[in-house]
Amino acid sequence: MDFFAHKEVYPFVAPYRNIACTQADPCQSCVYRAIISVLPKKEEPDMPRVTVQDFLKKKTEGKKISVLTAYDYPFAQIADEAGIDAVLVGDSLGVVVQGIENTLPVTMHEMIYHTRMVSRAVKNALVIGDMPFMSYQVSVEDAVRNAGRFLKEAGAAAIKIEGGAEIADKIRAITGSDIPVMAHIGLTPQSIHRMGGYKVQGKTGSAAKKLIEEACAVEEAGAFSVVLEGIPMGLAKEITKALSIPTIGIGAGPYCDGQVLVLHDLLGLFDRFVPKFIKRYANLKEDSLRAIREYKKEVEEGLFPSEDQSFK
Ligand code: KIV
Repeated sequence: MDFFAHKEVYPFVAPYRNIACTQADPCQSCVYRAIISVLPKKEEPDMPRVTVQDFLKKKTEGKKISVLTAYDYPFAQIADEAGIDAVLVGDSLGVVVQGIENTLPVTMHEMIYHTRMVSRAVKNALVIGDMPFMSYQVSVEDAVRNAGRFLKEAGAAAIKIEGGAEIADKIRAITGSDIPVMAHIGLTPQSIHRMGGYKVQGKTGSAAKKLIEEACAVEEAGAFSVVLEGIPMGLAKEITKALSIPTIGIGAGPYCDGQVLVLHDLLGLFDRFVPKFIKRYANLKEDSLRAIREYKKEVEEGLFPSEDQSFK
């Protein structure tokens, strides 16, 4: 019997491999064959993993680096399949996933939980876990132990940490334990109360000079890259030129070595506030609303499920 000559598309398996069957009743064999046909895909050799060395290589070669946040299995899988260089499990999850006001309440436990989901999905990208507020500020020992948990318990290959010269000792100790560090300076959301809100940083001459010093300090401490958030593009350009490690910008203009965005901003899933630097590449909130409203309507009108979506 030629299972694959069949025409009727199976609703459950078709999304994977367009398996078809002509029989009026979906036959079990076809369903099994269809499921099995998905397996060889997994056995295909994976593309090589992106490493921190690739970040440095890209900077040397003048190639741009793409970074995107993700917080769960399905979206991490999509980001990875799209070829994103690094998936950052940002503490921004507090705002865009948990619905809280800022990132300060996010815990290590929550970060490990989300990073695990992301690591399970990602095959190629570099997975970076974000150190939440108070997981590294108290002591170098705390910083190293918590950074290590991202690699040991959650499958990340690097961590991100907010701060400049004042945390250089922690960056040095973490990298000294063979844990690659992405630094993060400029508008650092965990410093919201010191900054008096989410405000563009480095606008005065002295603030700009201080930021250049911060950038040099984190490079000197061993960071493999640095996020520049919420700073004027001219300053970001200057920092990018001054450093040999790549700069990854968010609200820092086009001259950085790479860019990072929050997934929910890029996909139009978050609209509580939309900063100027965001570009929406989709409007999934509207698409989801339309789909869910249609589902509700069809349930209420008795149109879903039809006989096609039912077993015989
Ligand atoms: O938490 C986060 O997602 C971040 C990025 C936006 C850089 O820090």
